[in-house]
Amino acid sequence: MRVRNRKIEIKNDRDIEAMRTVCRLAADTLTKVDGIIRPGLTTEEINTFVHEDTMAKNAKPAPLNYRGYPKSTCTSLNEVVCHGIPTPDRALVDGDIINVDITHIYEGYFGDTSATFYVGEPSDEARHVTEVCRRSLDIGLAQIKDGARLGDIGAAIQEFVEGHGCSVVRDFVGHGIGRKFHMEPMVTHYGKYGNGVKLKSGMIFTVEPMVNMGRHDVVILDDGWTAVTVDGSLSAQFEHTILVTDQGCEILTQRDQVLTQSERFPDFFG
Ligand code: MF3
Ligand code: CO
Ligand code: CO
Repeated sequence: MRVRNRKIEIKNDRDIEAMRTVCRLAADTLTKVDGIIRPGLTTEEINTFVHEDTMAKNAKPAPLNYRGYPKSTCTSLNEVVCHGIPTPDRALVDGDIINVDITHIYEGYFGDTSATFYVGEPSDEARHVTEVCRRSLDIGLAQIKDGARLGDIGAAIQEFVEGHGCSVVRDFVGHGIGRKFHMEPMVTHYGKYGNGVKLKSGMIFTVEPMVNMGRHDVVILDDGWTAVTVDGSLSAQFEHTILVTDQGCEILTQRDQVLTQSERFPDFFG
């Protein structure tokens, strides 16, 4: 059966300009978070920083009160896969890895991006899972252009991640985004080449692979949000919001500066 994509919005020029703006603001907040990551900082302090920086831009933090989520950002440490809730009870310690996920709303449009940061010196495992995840996002994005298939993205990510001895989380996916936080399509980070809907110029969605050192299975803690690896293994995540173009994709959440606490091992793959 032919898969249609009638439900996937094609953005007009005005939407695209607005998405460029909100995504640039979210990327800027993520870049500023890089400047405060250090041992002793609590995840609550990260939340406060994100909240205030977002408001200073005349934007709103999308996570706050989203389906009852209590904070303005997600801070996912070590075995936390995603949706970690900031708390004054948890300070960063040397060797942690932490994903900070930022979503802004500006003039009615949403922009979503995240990165995993190193706190002090990472273990070999922490570095491995983080660098495999970082690269897997680039590899997924390289598949995107008008006429490619949605499944090509996940297939390329899965192939790379599993080829490096890690696993791809199945229970959370990327998503269309625009005037809503989560829209069609669902962007899985696993799959088969040639499967899924055809990508078209003007589609905007996130790609946000979560990569585990061990099994891909996750469980949700009693707080109803925090997703952790079932085997306690480390997990990393990177996320961009992108626009499909004729030639490839435009990374709307591209940063204009290096993340000094994340992009620390540029030669990891030689
Ligand atoms: N930013 C997350 C994503 O990439 C969603 C967070 S929902 C929240 O889709 F409620 F936990 F904030
Ligand atoms: Co997202
Ligand atoms: Co996000």
